[in-house]
Amino acid sequence: MIVHIITLFPSMFGGFLENSIISRAIERGIVDIRLVDLRPFGLGPHRMVDDTPYGGGGGMVMRVEPIHNALKSIGKDTGHVILTTPRGKLFTQGDAFRLSREGSITVICGHYEGVDERVSELFVDEELSIGDYVLTGGEIPAMVMIDAIVRLVPGVLVKDTLVSGDSHYNGLLEHPQYTRPRQYMDRAVPEVLLGGNHKEIQKWRRIMSLKATMRRRPDLLDKVSLSKEDIMVLGEED
Ligand code: ADE
Repeated sequence: MIVHIITLFPSMFGGFLENSIISRAIERGIVDIRLVDLRPFGLGPHRMVDDTPYGGGGGMVMRVEPIHNALKSIGKDTGHVILTTPRGKLFTQGDAFRLSREGSITVICGHYEGVDERVSELFVDEELSIGDYVLTGGEIPAMVMIDAIVRLVPGVLVKDTLVSGDSHYNGLLEHPQYTRPRQYMDRAVPEVLLGGNHKEIQKWRRIMSLKATMRRRPDLLDKVSLSKEDIMVLGEED
């Protein structure tokens, strides 16, 4: 998979690309992450990439031409084009999975008060937000999305089966996890996890998953299909 990132701050991605899972995926040739510095595509001697908004109001708006030229420099390889913006559709695990199956994606990191609407109209397949809050720029959202996408590309995680236990994989939050020691201060690891009864462990994990989702994110329960047993567990929680 090829991931292009169009950004005014390529140096922000340094630490991200050194992250062990991401860097191993790059070394093994599973993903190729290419940073495209937007600044050289800016206009005039000062390489301007923004301007004041038509109609007035504060702040600056990113211009269309530098972004168009940066996209042209990528050529036919842009693949699925994403713009990071707090106005976008909320990015979910489902989006991460869908995008992990693309051959190439391009993420345009938005900035300032916004991006000229014609960028979206002409070049963008999808506007995505990582949450209902406003960050200073699209670089952190781009890293968040690319991290979530890349770990789902087949072959990136040592064991692809690991993702099936993730929170949000089946629409629920993950059950609690424990490792050694068995006892810490007055807290013991739940007995069921020590017995090796796989069926009982699965049942306990499903119950804990349902209870955590009910308490913390009841909105998620509207979207998952629940068995009769699940509904009974949730009834006990009321
Ligand atoms: N840019 C600024 N805030 C953002 C957000 N929440 N999601 C995506 N891009 C953004």
